[in-house]
Amino acid sequence: MRPPALAVLCSGQGTNLQAILNAIRAGRLSARVAIVVSDRADAKALSRATRAGIEARYVDPRQYPTRASYERALIRLFDQRGVKLVCLAGFMRILSPVFVGHFPQRIVNIHPALLPAFPGAHAIRDALAWGAKVTGVTVHLIDEHVDHGPILLQEAVAISPRETKATLLAKLHRIEHRLYPQAIRLLLDGRARVVGRTVRLR
Ligand code: GRF
Repeated sequence: MRPPALAVLCSGQGTNLQAILNAIRAGRLSARVAIVVSDRADAKALSRATRAGIEARYVDPRQYPTRASYERALIRLFDQRGVKLVCLAGFMRILSPVFVGHFPQRIVNIHPALLPAFPGAHAIRDALAWGAKVTGVTVHLIDEHVDHGPILLQEAVAISPRETKATLLAKLHRIEHRLYPQAIRLLLDGRARVVGRTVRLR
């Protein structure tokens, strides 16, 4: 049997995409990335995918009159490829109920803070500006609200007195690249059961 198909949505560097690909290649994750989609033509994630022999698509939101029609185009691409799990990896767009409702509990996101602290697009900057002593990484399922769905895994990291955005980003990336493939594996293995807001892991 073929391993389950993932779709990865990215807007930028794609280091988390790379971590997923590396985990698959190393046999730590039994899955295949069926397609990588970006809303930005210049996303480095697309070239990473192409280099790995994976279908990489730039789907330009400006070509669609509404958010719903854009999302329906993504849904079509993913359904045609039998996608089991959608992984958001630095995808800088908010997904509407059209998309979320089509993949119930089958969309996962990684966020560079300990949710519900520091939601939004500037979590690292915000944690530093707040003077937080601890931040971290959250992997969570997507629901109809932003940075809100049930939490699969979290890991904390200390913010040192001399921390800069660059040093914190590097620390968080190290954690992300380990945590994301782990969380995807839990989901694909059916080891994560959602009870209300809580994810029970077996
Ligand atoms: C990561 O820090 C992730 O937590 C956030 O966006 C960033 C994406 O980085 N959602 P990359 O494109 O995977 O390098």
